[in-house]
Amino acid sequence: MPVPGMLPSYQRYVNGVPVSVGRKSLRMREKYIILLVFLTFGMVCFGAFFFLPDLRDRVTVSEMRRHIQMGGAEIFVPGKESPGGLQVDNHGDIIDVHKVQDKGRLGVKIAEDVARQKAIDELSNKLKLPKDDTLKVKDAIDQDKEKLKEQEKVKEMEIQVERQREAKDKVHREHSGGEGTRGGEPADPAVKVKRDKVKEMMKHAWDSYKKYAWGSNELRPISKQGHSASIFGTSTLGATIIDALDTLYIMEMDEEFKIGRDWVATDFKFEGSTELSVFETNIRFVGGLLSAYALSGDKLFKDKANHVAEKLLPAFNTPTGLPHSMVNIKTGSTRNWGWASGGSSILSELGSMHLEFDYLSNVTGNGIFAEKVYRIRDFMNQIEKPNGLYPNYINPKTGKWGQHHVAIGALGDSFYEYLLKMWIQSGKTDPVSRKMYDDAVSAIETHMIKVSPGGLKYVSEYKSGRNELKMDHLGCFCGGMFALGAEGSAEPEKYLQLGQDIANTCHESYDRSATKLGPEAFRFDGNTEAKAVRQNEKYYILRPEVLETYFYMWRFTKEQKYRDWAWEAVQALETHCRTDGGYTGIRDVYQVNPQKDDVQQSFFLAETLKYLYLIFSDDSLLPLDKWVLNTEAHPLPVHRVFKKNATVTENDEKHL
Ligand SMILES: *[C@@H]1O[C@H](CO)[C@@H](O)[C@H](O)[C@H]1NC(C)=O
Ligand SMILES: *[C@@H]1O[C@H](CO)[C@@H](O)[C@H](O)[C@H]1NC(C)=O
Repeated sequence: MPVPGMLPSYQRYVNGVPVSVGRKSLRMREKYIILLVFLTFGMVCFGAFFFLPDLRDRVTVSEMRRHIQMGGAEIFVPGKESPGGLQVDNHGDIIDVHKVQDKGRLGVKIAEDVARQKAIDELSNKLKLPKDDTLKVKDAIDQDKEKLKEQEKVKEMEIQVERQREAKDKVHREHSGGEGTRGGEPADPAVKVKRDKVKEMMKHAWDSYKKYAWGSNELRPISKQGHSASIFGTSTLGATIIDALDTLYIMEMDEEFKIGRDWVATDFKFEGSTELSVFETNIRFVGGLLSAYALSGDKLFKDKANHVAEKLLPAFNTPTGLPHSMVNIKTGSTRNWGWASGGSSILSELGSMHLEFDYLSNVTGNGIFAEKVYRIRDFMNQIEKPNGLYPNYINPKTGKWGQHHVAIGALGDSFYEYLLKMWIQSGKTDPVSRKMYDDAVSAIETHMIKVSPGGLKYVSEYKSGRNELKMDHLGCFCGGMFALGAEGSAEPEKYLQLGQDIANTCHESYDRSATKLGPEAFRFDGNTEAKAVRQNEKYYILRPEVLETYFYMWRFTKEQKYRDWAWEAVQALETHCRTDGGYTGIRDVYQVNPQKDDVQQSFFLAETLKYLYLIFSDDSLLPLDKWVLNTEAHPLPVHRVFKKNATVTENDEKHL
């Protein structure tokens, strides 16, 4: 029951029902007065709403001019910007610019009028003209002068704005990975439209994840809930957030980046008893965090990367130093996958730690990470290799190869990529990794590269002396790798051409499907060329490797077809993978209306959309002589490798 005392005094309660007290005639009069008060109040509000000046932050050009005319030189002394764009004085109070100007203006006006009358008299005497005509001449002259003054002031203001922008850029450069982390806007407006489209896709993917699966590893876009794959163990680690950070950064989606950053600061703990893939954790979490650090200069990311990498260290405690595949981040116990040939470690996994760990040692000054990965490299360098090839399986206890299966696709892929990229990361000064890369590629050329009857060049798999005429979608990254490795090789032209040929074959695998998206694996059996044969090879899970190769080929050749192919992929993604809840993979690329798998992979945001964005950007964004992308497309700065006797100095921090 309401409290009687809270009601107007003329109401009292009888059995809980309000009743009136006092004389009726008085109540009528009161009602009138109240009505009148309300009416007056309403009119005042109404008037205020329509006639008060608009104080929001948009200022038109003509208003700006008016302010310049009225304001004089003081206007060029920049005041502090308040959130709404108003001028703020040193005490943080908003200045009413109009009022301040009004005071002085009257006096000035009178003086001006007197001066003006005097000038007209003098002029009419000189020109010997009637006063009226002189007035016109004088007006014309004044107008011209005024215009000139105005133009000068606008120019001056532009210079001021430009200076401020430069200063801001300089600050940004000093605290981040340097030039080329932002911008890259293409000059051609038609290309810009495409780039904007890719950014819009990123926004849709991110917003959907944020709305339905925030904090989960991945998003289920159709059932609109969180998802976690086995590679992330049983923990909720926000894989999508960490994988997406650097893409948000280069796309200048600052608000989203900040929200992601805040989540990392407060919610990303990386603890609990769970078994994680050492490789996946490294390339996505350590790589993603280090990249966010390198781009933004925000030390939070470095500390978090260090925290995660430390949890992976037990995996390296094997007789050879080759890491196990899995680690329990609470107990530190480690093991290999049950299915991997006789307890073996996997080539691509043990070989894809170097870029992240070397850089981490450089920025923390803690050499332990670099030590681990150099030991792997040196072990792989000295070991006997069958036909010069690196099989996919190797036992970390005995140092002996498992099954002699060799692949540039699944299980092998990024081992080769990292040999090349170690060399690039070292500023192309490390001859050991370059030689290992060159030797590996030449063995692959000899034993694995084939040309189909239809003239398509591809990299087959090699299983105990026999070729399996198949290429994985995962293997399609190698077109870009061959092109990236051309410079510094004995035959640059040959490798650039090899890159183009692989890009073409992988494009064919897309073009020969109903959806214009490529299958997980395609074969060259009999009459089949670049098409999947088995049902379980027909899916597409938003993978990036083909676009990755288009990206490198575009950078190195500038052939329009790579941008055209990338745009074909954008349209196919929009048609078949976009849903109102985010992006999904599909189960069969050969069906016009394919079934959807209901998973938005974190690498879609880390890699697929990043490569697309870069393809439609200017080369000045992430220039390849300054940045090297890890196998999850997380850029790390080149030259930043660990030096044994160096210590981390403040100076280092500034020149990331
Ligand atoms: C990190 O790399 C920079 C650039 O090459 C180098 O000057 C510095 O000494 C390195 N720091 C460490 C601790 O290795
Ligand atoms: C590093 O220090 C050790 C001993 O402290 C020295 O023998 C070695 O030459 C130094 N290496 C470099 C590259 O300066």
